[in-house]
Amino acid sequence: MEKIVIEGGRKLVGEVTIGGAKNAALAILPATILAGDLCRIENVPEISDVTMIFHILKQLGAEVKLIKPGSYEINTKNIVWQEISHELTRHLRGSYYFVGAMLGRFGRARVAMPGGCDFGARPIDLHIRGFEALGADATIEANAMVDARADSLQGSLIYMDLVSVGATANIILASVLAEGTTTIENAAREPHIVDLANFLIQCGADIRGAGTDVIKIHGVKSLHGCDYSVIPDQIEAGTYMVAAAATSGKVVLKNVIYKHLESIAAKLRDCGAEIIENEDGSVVVEGSAALCSCKVKTLPHPGFPTDMQPQITALLSVADGTSIISETVYDNRFRYVEQLSRMGADISVNGKIAVVVGVERLMGAPIKAVDLRAGAAMLIAGLMAEGVTEIEDIEHIDRGYEDVVKKLSRLGANIKRVNFPEPNTIPSAV
Ligand code: EPZ
Repeated sequence: MEKIVIEGGRKLVGEVTIGGAKNAALAILPATILAGDLCRIENVPEISDVTMIFHILKQLGAEVKLIKPGSYEINTKNIVWQEISHELTRHLRGSYYFVGAMLGRFGRARVAMPGGCDFGARPIDLHIRGFEALGADATIEANAMVDARADSLQGSLIYMDLVSVGATANIILASVLAEGTTTIENAAREPHIVDLANFLIQCGADIRGAGTDVIKIHGVKSLHGCDYSVIPDQIEAGTYMVAAAATSGKVVLKNVIYKHLESIAAKLRDCGAEIIENEDGSVVVEGSAALCSCKVKTLPHPGFPTDMQPQITALLSVADGTSIISETVYDNRFRYVEQLSRMGADISVNGKIAVVVGVERLMGAPIKAVDLRAGAAMLIAGLMAEGVTEIEDIEHIDRGYEDVVKKLSRLGANIKRVNFPEPNTIPSAV
């Protein structure tokens, strides 16, 4: 079994280059299906969720060619319609984008329900209602197969009951080739929604308002291929910002868009860190010896991202005073707190609220990554802790963080991947 082993207590110092945005790439790569042509995509993160998306595209008949690390040629001209099985979709949440893309191109999609991090119920009813508003018959069959079909897709006015990143993106995918105009009200405003829209516009789509809460899509007859570069990953950047502050280090982040990091920077300043945006666009994060407690409330963009909630909680576990973390996006995103408690954190969770009483220090311990961003929080906790931390189930971390051990080592962390023999069964008594 592979684990990440960290000897904590070292400051992170130096430069780190942020990779392409996972949640933008997971939408843009299936969107190439709508182009039916050759697309060159750069700054694609080398992470296992992306590997799985490429695997599905190749299963559908797309030609995928690696040009150089992070850069690919994808030709979806010869893609043929087929059902996408649970075996392929269960590894990640982003597989749901194949519903919108296949429905948009072929008028039909059969895609098994997605997988992804376990934060409690993660329905896709808003996706289904969006497809139905466009004139499709869309259902989730008893065998967890999403079936959507339409003789023709018609633009429509869609008001989203909840701000949903995935549903907003999926409706964009299904409507770019529809007849007429689709208006999405109460749309998600995340940077990766804007990136998906910009990619499709480069392919000839007519999309306005991405990044605001009203997005208008005027259907076009067809799309074509394009060259595109994925935006830098807001959450990977935020994770390294928190790690720098948590270890009282000083880290320069390269290949970032500061505008995407404003809510994270503001919160880290509340905690006593210093954040500076350089002329060249890089961002410097300097931690202070005494971290301050604060209040955190997760919200859809431009609020503090829910995907940064576990990481900031790890930092606040050793801040002076008591912090309150309010998770407004998911029902159950505090499962990782139990792991921090094993390291000596004093955190009590009541539903969607966590109360964090800062302790002097965390102590290294054997812990688990219960999901992707929880795994990032475990890395931060291990970097801060006194002694050795062993993190299991690190495949969760590899879903969304490119070369994380190498990047942290280069910043001075004492961190390595270690292969341990599979835990044997309990020895017999005699
Ligand atoms: C995307 O998930 C991201 N994943 C998540 O990132 C991120 O946490 C989330 O957006 C919020 O920013 C990808 O982009 C692949 P939502 P998604 O639809 O689309 C409820 C990471 O760490 N909801 O915005 O699933 C839902 O249960 C991952 O990179 C419905 O009720 O998120 C949640 O409470 C974790 N019905 C809320 O809306 C629906 O049909 C927001 O979910 C859809 C969502």
